[in-house]
Amino acid sequence: MNYADTIEKSLPPDLWSLITLLGEVGASQDQRLYLVGGRVRDLLLGIEGGDLDLVVEGDAMALARSLAGEHGGEVVSHPRFGTAKYRRGELTIDLASARTEVYSRPGALPLVRPGSIDKDLSRRDFTINSMAVCLSPPDKGNLLDPFDGRADLEARLIRVLHSKSFIDDATRIMRAIRYEQRLNFKIEDATRGYLLRDLSYLDTVGVDRLRHELQLFLEEGRPEGALLRADELGVLKAMHPSLKADGWTGEMFRKARSAAQVATPEVYLALLLYRISPEDALDLVKGYRYASDQVRIVSDLIKLKTLEKGLGAPGLKPRELYALLHGLAPEALTAFSLACESQRTRDIIVQYLDELRHVKTYLDGHKLKLLGVPQGPGMGRMLKALLDARLDGEVANREAEVALVKRWLAEGGPE
Ligand code: CTP
Repeated sequence: MNYADTIEKSLPPDLWSLITLLGEVGASQDQRLYLVGGRVRDLLLGIEGGDLDLVVEGDAMALARSLAGEHGGEVVSHPRFGTAKYRRGELTIDLASARTEVYSRPGALPLVRPGSIDKDLSRRDFTINSMAVCLSPPDKGNLLDPFDGRADLEARLIRVLHSKSFIDDATRIMRAIRYEQRLNFKIEDATRGYLLRDLSYLDTVGVDRLRHELQLFLEEGRPEGALLRADELGVLKAMHPSLKADGWTGEMFRKARSAAQVATPEVYLALLLYRISPEDALDLVKGYRYASDQVRIVSDLIKLKTLEKGLGAPGLKPRELYALLHGLAPEALTAFSLACESQRTRDIIVQYLDELRHVKTYLDGHKLKLLGVPQGPGMGRMLKALLDARLDGEVANREAEVALVKRWLAEGGPE
């Protein structure tokens, strides 16, 4: 089977022309161009989109330069050894040189050397990700499939290329789970055995890479699939002893998706940490070096739990609710509203998120000055009192606000 037409149909025509040209320039210099990795996998599965990973069996930088020399465009960067970014008009192409990798120790980033396309494919994670389609004549469109990836695609299996794969790079443990759940495949038996055997190698991978893999879980359409499977295989526990996912997690994630626009990775993470003790949740986000925004979401979530009783107090006025919740991260509020048990508390948080937090006064500092309010702390107190009056529905429009301010001025202040 020849895949040139299938690739052509999946790309904008001008990009396909450029790639065709690149393949031809490569062939004229005895450097073959290949499409590799996930895009080939998805192409064979009939899934559209995804990154265009192009590999040249030779020197990517030199090929990009000759393309620019012969046909215009420019080489805009070469961020790492062996890679090049080429741009012509609106189009950009990332190009990597085929390479072999040597792992100096488990979990270390590999040492990289130029190599053949076969070597390049054999350094990869799973058979289904280790196929290439040649883009240079005379083999243009031919599939290179040294590990029988196509057969595994048909059998719907995630299979490593060799028994030490997870030891070389334990992030592949999480990748295996992610692909399995996304594609509705199965991790092949021997691979599952290596995965379970090598769980302890997750410790050899830096926290930044593990956090990234967890983030990729949370960016999937239905992250609970990968999380539940990771729990079942002992991966979550290996990441942090208190991390777990179960039916409750799935139920919450589905609820988040059914509520419009709230199912973000940040909300999912907050839900995942909801049932963990405050100490462990903070230990986890700090240990995994989450950005300060995400740490704040988690500490706000913890704070919300301590506020739960107060939020349920009978006769709580809107201004009091506002004072309790103002400044807390919306993601924490959303996660809390989905996960907390009391329907009443849930309604209150939704009322705050949907209405109260958007309430604004008509009058601002500048307008108060025009009404004769002197600048200073008194003005700040007046603005706050105005907002409270507005939140509680005591004033509903501009005229009422102005009348209230005039009264306060006559009486010497809001208190
Ligand atoms: N790869 C690998 N081992 C890793 C990461 C990546 O072998 N730890 C290889 C795989 O061949 C993979 C390719 O690099 O297909 C590109 O990696 P990435 O962009 O992460 O994967 P995609 O397959 O494109 O997956 P996705 O659909 O999730 O973007």
